[in-house]
Amino acid sequence: MIDKPRDSRETGERSSSSATAERSAQRIALGADHAGFALKETIRKHLEQAGYVIEDLGTWSEESVDYPDFGRAVGERVVARQSDVGIAVCGTGIGISIAANKVPGVRAAVAHDVMTARLAREHNDANVLALGGRVVTEAQAIEIVDTFLGTRFAGGRHQRRVNKIADIERDERASATRAKNPG
Ligand code: RB5
Repeated sequence: MIDKPRDSRETGERSSSSATAERSAQRIALGADHAGFALKETIRKHLEQAGYVIEDLGTWSEESVDYPDFGRAVGERVVARQSDVGIAVCGTGIGISIAANKVPGVRAAVAHDVMTARLAREHNDANVLALGGRVVTEAQAIEIVDTFLGTRFAGGRHQRRVNKIADIERDERASATRAKNPG
């Protein structure tokens, strides 16, 4: 079960630095399981200092929890446009990305290095970054996060391919509806 999110606008944890004003409108949903908790905390502090608005969806300790709950919560926030981007952390980044990707409209990408983080944005217009708290160091994770957030979607031929991902979701939904209501 997921508790009420902790919004840094309510806790006043956001940096007031004018140098960060341009980025202050960007809202980031953060979520992690117990294996991603420590890295999620590091990322949260880093992003708050950089002036982002953080919505922390938990978890808030190393007590064992289930990563699908948090991948789903991050994905739903992003698709509902309550957050602009999501960052989801579990042990490997894999389970939580699989869960987030079940939310229609989510394009979650696991990145364990700067190049895949950049390409996830440039080519795939990924809207959720998934990280492995047991895979990357804190320093690597910060570099990956900064790269992901600082890279724009390239569009062009990549837009056509991203559109085809949305087509898969639409077609699968339609066939599920047909299966439920035959004839
Ligand atoms: C939890 O032990 C671990 O399975 C989880 O964090 C994640 O790595 C799953 O993909």
